[in-house]
Amino acid sequence: MSVEGVWHESRSALQPMMPITLDRITLPPNFAERLKHETRSLHRQAEQTALMRLLIGGKMSAPAYCRLLRNLLALYSALEPAILRQAKHPLLAPVVGLDLLRRAALRADLRALGCDEETALRSVEPLAAATQAYVQRLQGLAGTDPERLLAHAYVRYMGDLNGGQRLAPIVANALQLPGREGTAFYDFGGAERTAALAGAFRELLTSGAADPEIADTIIAEAQWSFAQHITMFDELALQAQPAA
Ligand code: HEM
Repeated sequence: MSVEGVWHESRSALQPMMPITLDRITLPPNFAERLKHETRSLHRQAEQTALMRLLIGGKMSAPAYCRLLRNLLALYSALEPAILRQAKHPLLAPVVGLDLLRRAALRADLRALGCDEETALRSVEPLAAATQAYVQRLQGLAGTDPERLLAHAYVRYMGDLNGGQRLAPIVANALQLPGREGTAFYDFGGAERTAALAGAFRELLTSGAADPEIADTIIAEAQWSFAQHITMFDELALQAQPAA
């Protein structure tokens, strides 16, 4: 289904301030705001980690950036199959419909950055322990917890569609990449489409995020995800060196 299709379909299905029922799942109308509000301070902490400051300051070295992408690839390689396994679930079907998958883009960036050699060194430089724990968490949720997977999709894809968009030119500049090479990860098809996707994701949360009990579960899992990202970034920061 096209992005526009998902967007308009979810909009037209909305009755303002009315709970929406998708199959057997009823969703509080203010859920998107609540989720954002209740993860705000963790978002700020993640944003202010040394690794993110290095990245946004354009001071991350190529090896450190490769390492970050490899860890993100491991995360998405656990998240995306887990979501696709439950692609027909009413909570996850709209996410799948947005076609946000990032694995191919991450692999393309790793190739463009010449990180293949590093990938081959994985046995001597394993993924961060926090990444491994995150992957295990996601694998444990596959097939069992669509609401928790929605939380992880929210943290990753909404992050990529929002703050992530600022990073593409910074990364390209810091690593002296020609054109868009090496920044496919941030590319969702142009600014307009990216904004539409972020709006559609927000809409699916507003219209599709569960009864109060499920809503609490999603929020708790999103908080766990942010906290685990912070641990992962702190671990990766120990190895990251500013570019000369
Ligand atoms: C360089 C660091 C970062 C910057 C500058 C940044 C910036 C932003 C900005 C400007 C927004 C839009 C806020 C709004 O609509 O009011 C946003 C949203 C978001 N970011 Fe970040 N961010 C960063 C890192 C992260 C990280 C590391 C994650 C996840 C681990 C993340 C997850 C999110 C999410 C989930 C949203 C959507 C919030 C919502 O509308 O519900 N961000 N970010």
